[in-house]
Amino acid sequence: MSEGVIGFKGVSYLYPSGTLAIDGLDLVLPQGKKIALLGGNGAGKSTFLLMLIGILKPSSGYLNYHDTRYCYGKSQLRTLRSKIGFLFHDSDNQLIAPTVYEELSFGLYNLSKDKVWVRQRVEWALEAFGLQELRDKSPHDLSAGQKKRVCMAAVLSMEPDVVVCDEPASSLDPYHSSLIFNQLDKLNLHGKTIIISTHDVNQAYAWADYIIVLKQGKVLVSGSPQKVFHQTEVLKEADLQLPFIVELSHSLFPDLGCESLPKSLVELQTLLKPVLCTDL
Ligand SMILES: Nc1ncnc2c1ncn2[C@@H]1O[C@H](COP(=O)(O)OP(=O)(O)OP(=O)(O)O)[C@@H](O)[C@H]1O
Ligand SMILES: [Mg+2]
Repeated sequence: MSEGVIGFKGVSYLYPSGTLAIDGLDLVLPQGKKIALLGGNGAGKSTFLLMLIGILKPSSGYLNYHDTRYCYGKSQLRTLRSKIGFLFHDSDNQLIAPTVYEELSFGLYNLSKDKVWVRQRVEWALEAFGLQELRDKSPHDLSAGQKKRVCMAAVLSMEPDVVVCDEPASSLDPYHSSLIFNQLDKLNLHGKTIIISTHDVNQAYAWADYIIVLKQGKVLVSGSPQKVFHQTEVLKEADLQLPFIVELSHSLFPDLGCESLPKSLVELQTLLKPVLCTDL
């Protein structure tokens, strides 16, 4: 595994109501990777992500950003949040400005008072996320998917070192979902670490470099997508299904080792070619 960007050291989180949502986690999030957090409803994904930006503070244990232990004072949290961008599951938790344009400018003005730079970044964000026609609208009057795109544009336009997204594709149509994942990929190519939670095993398998499966606040399995999705029994325990490509590959090639599992249709075709040629 590459060097870690964020580490969890014996971290637990107990909600005041008495629910233990995160249970003694020890793990390292690899730097510069695309990381997917999987798990059924109530597994602890949102709680885990909220701890990454210090909205929730561990009940026991601690987190590190690189080698610095998380502190929860105002100025430390401000520094942390300038490095880690966060997309909430519910966009209404994020939207505060009267227009889309101002929503996009708000975080950028906190980074720099250079009006020309801010204007250029906002124009980039409006175009990259297909928001030009909505620029003067109130974010609260938008559809759920449009709100999600505004929030994502606001987070990504600041180019944080780490991007954390709680179910980024929820409410998005396939076109805008791939538009957002393309932008996440571009940031990742520039060395940024991306962490998402999702219920979409097909997307997680095809997109992520590293997967963490949670159940009842504990890690059931973590590692490369091929390693994780080779463990069919563990996935059942986590209430997850196999990605389509893995299921098909297992049924066609029951003895396939995890390192040989195809990640895409193109890789599956390559695997099938010799078999099909022999049969012909
Ligand atoms: N604000 C809260 N107060 C009390 N308990 C909570 C709160 N938020 C979540 N929980 C509980 O903590 C546990 C983990 O919830 P969390 O929201 O982190 O799960 P999740 O994996 O994000 O689920 P989902 O897939 O439904 O979004 C659940 O048992 C949930 O009921
Ligand atoms: Mg959640």
